[in-house]
Amino acid sequence: MTEGAVYEVSESTASAAWIDESGYFSLYEQSVSNPEAFWGEQGKRIEWFKPYSEVKDVAYGPGDVHIRWYGDGTTNVAHNCIDRHLAEKRDTTAIIWEGDDPADSKHITYGELHEQVCRLGNALKARGVKKGDRVTIYMPMIPEAAYAMLACARIGAIHSVVFGGFSPDALAGRVQDCASTCVITADEGLRGGRKVPLKANTDKALESCSDVDTVVVVKRTGGDVGWKDGRDVWYHEACADVSADCPAEEMNAEDPLFILYTSGSTGKPKGVLHTTGGYLVYAAMTHHYVFDYHPGEVYWCTADVGWVTGHSYIVYGPLANGATTLMFEGVPNYPDASRFWQVCDKHKVDIFYTAPTAIRALMREGEDPVKSTSRSSLRLLGSVGEPINPEAWEWYHKVVGDERCPIVDTWWQTETGGILITPLPGATPLKPGSATRPFFGIKPVLVDADGAVLEGATEGNLCIADSWPGQMRTVYGDHERFIQTYFSSYPGKYFTGDGCRRDGDGYYWITGRVDDVINVSGHRMGTAEVESALVAHPKVAESAVVGYPHDIKGQGIYAYVTLIAGEAPSEELRKELVGWVRKEIGPIASPDLIQWAPGLPKTRSGKIMRRILRKIAEDDFSNLGDTSTLADPGVVNDLIDNRMNKA
Ligand code: WTA
Repeated sequence: MTEGAVYEVSESTASAAWIDESGYFSLYEQSVSNPEAFWGEQGKRIEWFKPYSEVKDVAYGPGDVHIRWYGDGTTNVAHNCIDRHLAEKRDTTAIIWEGDDPADSKHITYGELHEQVCRLGNALKARGVKKGDRVTIYMPMIPEAAYAMLACARIGAIHSVVFGGFSPDALAGRVQDCASTCVITADEGLRGGRKVPLKANTDKALESCSDVDTVVVVKRTGGDVGWKDGRDVWYHEACADVSADCPAEEMNAEDPLFILYTSGSTGKPKGVLHTTGGYLVYAAMTHHYVFDYHPGEVYWCTADVGWVTGHSYIVYGPLANGATTLMFEGVPNYPDASRFWQVCDKHKVDIFYTAPTAIRALMREGEDPVKSTSRSSLRLLGSVGEPINPEAWEWYHKVVGDERCPIVDTWWQTETGGILITPLPGATPLKPGSATRPFFGIKPVLVDADGAVLEGATEGNLCIADSWPGQMRTVYGDHERFIQTYFSSYPGKYFTGDGCRRDGDGYYWITGRVDDVINVSGHRMGTAEVESALVAHPKVAESAVVGYPHDIKGQGIYAYVTLIAGEAPSEELRKELVGWVRKEIGPIASPDLIQWAPGLPKTRSGKIMRRILRKIAEDDFSNLGDTSTLADPGVVNDLIDNRMNKA
């Protein structure tokens, strides 16, 4: 391990890049000293139907929290991602699709993308979907997922993409929360050679969603599916019956573009709401600078469109920039651990963006699967979703990038819409494990538990002092929760929920969540969600869930479970509970370890002491703190004695 290593920017990278180090400092200075002028200028990256005259209108409380950017401008996201490029790029590839099966791939030009999106837009309109309606998208990684998002944007409907790995119950909750009237799905998904029953899951979910009157179904595998006449319609039939001319709806900059549900520290997942103009400006701008995207390059982000990374950096950012974006249906280790790099060679990928968990999993397979490929087209690598440990960073740099490619470790969140802290490849010397410096217009501040701002080299809770155009605007249907979650802990600032260290060079090192959110393989999971799934099981009396360090996943899910009186622990019950959580939420929420806990450490007022449970799960018994205030201090020793061995 090379803690403290610094990788300087090579001269060739700096001179070829959009921005070098001195360029970064001067533009950053402008961006924070005069945000109105800076963002007023940046807003011009996209085409407006009616230009804006106001740039920023933001209040971070107390009391009133509102965030508006380019508020009197009008535009359309699909117009910007497609139509605007047609004059020059009608025959240029917009999307390269690589199927789960290595024999399956295709190129979709901007012209074809236009026709597909227009047809689907008209098909949705024909079924009564109109501006402002919510459409839930529950899809595999096929081009139709991108068409669906863009078709909604085109007609002004608000999409809510639900990750295809979520269970029927999780899907139902998300459909109900935003009162979607239409769901777009596929017969089945295909991942790593295995089928995912998306239509069957949808049918199950919709048993409790009576407002949905339309289900559009893409035929992906041709597998048998149930059918509800009048409600269900095949995608290809619906699109064949309509015209290929669908004018883009004129949208106000602050009209909603999408809702995306994400886990928080309490309660059910929140519907993060992003709007039209500012979001697109920010997604396009960050894609341009962070990935240093140049026309003609092939850019590949391995995320799923079910997560924000797929929204901003597979679909909206790249397409707004007229890029060629690769969309991958499969998984990193199918048919074998060489797949990512084979795809890089096959499609001559220039820029590759993935998650640390994938890097760590591939690292375990050794160098051969990487070294058997060329990867000579690669010039830039990216990382997102969780802190990347320096060992994984070094491996990514040395083995995957042949020490030639800079790595951009990009820190951001569903809430932020786009990347906030990141290196720029031509401008930033890299330190493995650090997300380095703030992007233009971003003012990170570290605060202590009382909210005092900490200066210099220090560690604290990460807040952002001012707004940026890509910021979420509200929690759908619950503005009070928005204010409570993000603006009440540290008044006047946006609180990220992350801890962070700043070193003497002003570099930021994200240390992970400081709330009850855990990050499992780069997926956010609220411990409260897993707990409520567990206690819904008839044999479970109580449960407490915490994260623990996991070699591949970053964090694993550790569940303490107290059974109801008269029930005995067994291996069978353990399996049943794991299966139960999978069914309730989805496979990504499966507990890695379940410890039977006859009692949980509680204060005399009945509050579970999670700090102690976290320490035990982390195998760190030295620092449990004062346990004498517990209602029953004896439970701690019992928990230590029976701690699960890590996988
Ligand atoms: C974590 C994903 C360290 C962080 C885009 C954040 C990271 C949460 C990084 C958001 C990174 C994301 N380094 N931690 N480069 N990127 N995180 O909403 O804890 O799924 O708060 O958005 O992931 O996860 P989300």
